[in-house]
Amino acid sequence: MKLFDVYPLNDITIVKADGSYVWDDKDIKYLDMYGGHAVISIGHSNPHWMNRIETQLHKIAFYSNSIKIPIQQELADKLGKITGKNNYQLFLCNSGAEANENALKLASFYNGRKKIIAFSKSFHGRTSLAVEVTDNPSILAPVNKTGNVIFVPFNDEQALMDAFENNKDEISSVIIEGIQGVGGINVADEKFLKLIRKLCDENKAVYIADGVQCGYGRTGKFFSHDFAGVSADIYSMAKGMGNGFPIGGILIAPSIQPKHFMLGTTFGGNHLACAAALGVLEVIEEEGLMANAGEVGQYLIDKLKTIKEIKNVRGRGLMIGFDVPDALKDLKKNLLYKRHIFTGESKPNIIRLLPALNITKDQVDYFVAALEEEIMSMQEVVT
Ligand SMILES: Cc1ncc(COP(=O)(O)O)c(C=O)c1O
Repeated sequence: MKLFDVYPLNDITIVKADGSYVWDDKDIKYLDMYGGHAVISIGHSNPHWMNRIETQLHKIAFYSNSIKIPIQQELADKLGKITGKNNYQLFLCNSGAEANENALKLASFYNGRKKIIAFSKSFHGRTSLAVEVTDNPSILAPVNKTGNVIFVPFNDEQALMDAFENNKDEISSVIIEGIQGVGGINVADEKFLKLIRKLCDENKAVYIADGVQCGYGRTGKFFSHDFAGVSADIYSMAKGMGNGFPIGGILIAPSIQPKHFMLGTTFGGNHLACAAALGVLEVIEEEGLMANAGEVGQYLIDKLKTIKEIKNVRGRGLMIGFDVPDALKDLKKNLLYKRHIFTGESKPNIIRLLPALNITKDQVDYFVAALEEEIMSMQEVVT
């Protein structure tokens, strides 16, 4: 049987990983500045995380949500403490799209409305509603088009106010990434997030903070939305949550009350996933990884800003993007195949950096030196 061919693949087979390094089947070592798409939060193969999963595996891996699973409560308590949102409620699922799907559905249950405000260049996942609030018509199937989504230009305050004004008493929720990832590392203005809070309060709409990529400590705060100093009603999480073990979830404000069967999942919150997620939070806490992400991230941003060939360096903590001029369009490919460094990209010409939160300044220095050398060698070829 063939694999369903939906991914354009690099011709590389990774067989081993440790911290911010991965090795291929020819034993070539790569620096991972991509974190397997922002998923690796505490570093590959962290021993405490492996031990947490292994110990749980020998007890019980899975049983359905029809019984008590105390490790879910352990995870909820730990998340409440680290986020400072102890009064919120936790619903566990398996992925980012599923987290957003549940958030949007819950908002609609809550206020009985249908319309959703989303933003230009957003990405929220590939399932039914999550893909409809994603600003990319090429991945939207006809069946996904409910017509309930209003797209507003990102960070455009007037357009947001107009959208509420033109749809009085109809807006169910507003969904926004604190920093757009797939869209090219675009930081939401703090003023804009405050305005979303105000308009949602005035119009009884639900503020959904998509923290799937920009959350989980990557920016130096647990949620990048926290920089605005306002709370969302629902936060979605996934990528960094399990350090590669599939798990997602939503944090739900106390004003939104549960009813039996309104949400549900077979695999969400299984014993093994919760053990992985607890392992991640324990390491984040014990190793001070949020502070490291903030500090080393700023160090990296400052260094990148001194390289004149790359433009518009932006981001927060370890969620960083920069524009690559057309003459250097093969930079990402060359970094991978010549310098053995993984980076991310956004189309058409943006490099995205999403390394593990425990990356060191030495590793950053190595990356920046390699980047400068590669840019220089590409310029020599051009001239
Ligand atoms: C901001 C954001 N939300 C949601 C998702 C979807 O997550 P998943 O691929 O786990 O469904 C992504 C994935 O890249 C994302 O970046």
